[in-house]
Amino acid sequence: MKTIGIGIIGTGSIAAKHVLAIKELNDSELVAVCHHDPIKAAAAENVFGVPGYSDIQEFLAHPGLDVVCICTPSGVHLEPALAAAKAGKHVLIEKPLEISLGRADELIEACESNHVKLAVIFQNRFSPDYQKLKTAVQNGDFGRLLMGNAYINWFRDTAYYGTSRWKGTLKGDGGGAFINQGIHTIDLLLDLMGDVKSVFGQIQTALYPIEGEDLGAAVVNFENGALGNITAATSLYPGYPERLEVYGTEGSAILEAGKLIQWNIIGQPSEILSTASSNPSGSSDPTAIGHQLHAAQWKQFIEAIQLDLSPIVDGKTARKSVELIRAIYASSKSDQLLVFPFSDSE
Ligand SMILES: NC(=O)c1ccc[n+]([C@@H]2O[C@H](COP(=O)([O-])OP(=O)(O)OC[C@H]3O[C@@H](n4cnc5c(N)ncnc54)[C@H](O)[C@@H]3O)[C@@H](O)[C@H]2O)c1
Repeated sequence: MKTIGIGIIGTGSIAAKHVLAIKELNDSELVAVCHHDPIKAAAAENVFGVPGYSDIQEFLAHPGLDVVCICTPSGVHLEPALAAAKAGKHVLIEKPLEISLGRADELIEACESNHVKLAVIFQNRFSPDYQKLKTAVQNGDFGRLLMGNAYINWFRDTAYYGTSRWKGTLKGDGGGAFINQGIHTIDLLLDLMGDVKSVFGQIQTALYPIEGEDLGAAVVNFENGALGNITAATSLYPGYPERLEVYGTEGSAILEAGKLIQWNIIGQPSEILSTASSNPSGSSDPTAIGHQLHAAQWKQFIEAIQLDLSPIVDGKTARKSVELIRAIYASSKSDQLLVFPFSDSE
C-alpha cells in the first residue's frame, strides 16, 4: 500500500506528541512541517528532521503530502484547515474542532465539498477501558441510563496562562477550562449518553486574570431522559484525575483518568475490568499526557483514508462537544436553561 505523507502545521507542544505517534505508524511518515514564522519553521526543521516551511501554499505543495495535521491554537484551526482542504489534503485537527459553531461548520463544509476526510483528535476515545465502557453501554449492560457525569477538576499554575499568548483568551482558546481541558471528558460523556435536550451552565473566572473561565458547572438533560452533571476547572488545586460516571437501572461504572475504577452490575460480583497499564492524566501537568492514544487514533484515521471509511471522531461528532460548551457559556451569560439544537451567534 502507498505510504501516506503527513505534514504538521503549528509546531508547539502537541505537535511533538504527533511526531512520536506518527513514528509508530507502519504505512505513513512525517514529510514536512509548517510554521508561519520562518525562524520557528527552521527550528522545527532541525528538531523534526523534515523540511520546514513558513509559506502554507509551499508546504501544501510538498511532494507526497496527503494529510495535514493541524496543531495551531484552537481559534486558528479554521484557516489552515480551509487551505488544506482546498488543496485536496485530508485533515486531522487537534481538539476542539474550532471555538465557535460558525467556524466549526465552515470547516466541516470545506472538507465535505473538497471530498477530503476530517477527523478531530479526542485520543481518550481510544483508551481500552473507555472502549469497554462504551461497549457495555451500547449492549445495555447498565440498563436504562439514569445519569452521566463528567468531572474535570483540574489545576494549572500561574505560568500556564502567563507564558502562553493564546491560552485562556477568547479569540485563541474560545474560553478556558471547558473548551480547552474539559472538552475531552465532555466528548466521552456525549459519546456515551447521546444527544442533549437542554443545559443550564454557570461559569466563573475565579482565580486567574484570564478572559475565559477557570471554574464552571452545568446540569444537562439528555434526549434519552437521563440527567448529567459537568464540572470543569483549572483553578482547583492540586488538580484531580478527570472522572466519567455512568449510572443505569442495572448498574454503574466509573472511569478515572482513562481507567475503570468501578464496575458494578446488579446480581453480578463487583469487579474492576481495568486493562490499561497507565493513562497519564493532564490533571495538573499538561505535558504529562503520552502519545500512545494519539497513535491509536492516527491508525484509525489512516485506515479510514486507505479503505474509504468514516473516521471514528469525524467533524459532525466533534461538533457536539463544541455545541454543548458554547451552550454552557451562553446559558451562564443569560442565566437561562437553553434548549437544543443550540446555535450561537459568534
Ligand atoms: N489532544 C490533547 O490532549 C491536546 C493537548 C494539548 C493541546 N491540544 C490542542 O492542540 C492545539 C495546540 O496546542 P499546543 O499546546 O501545542 O499549543 P502551543 O502554543 O504549544 O503550540 C501552538 C503552535 O501554533 C503556533 N501558532 C501560534 N499562533 C498561530 C497563528 N496565529 N497561526 C498559526 N500558528 C500559530 C505557535 O507558534 C505554536 O507553534 C490546541 O488546539 C490545543 O487545544 C490538544
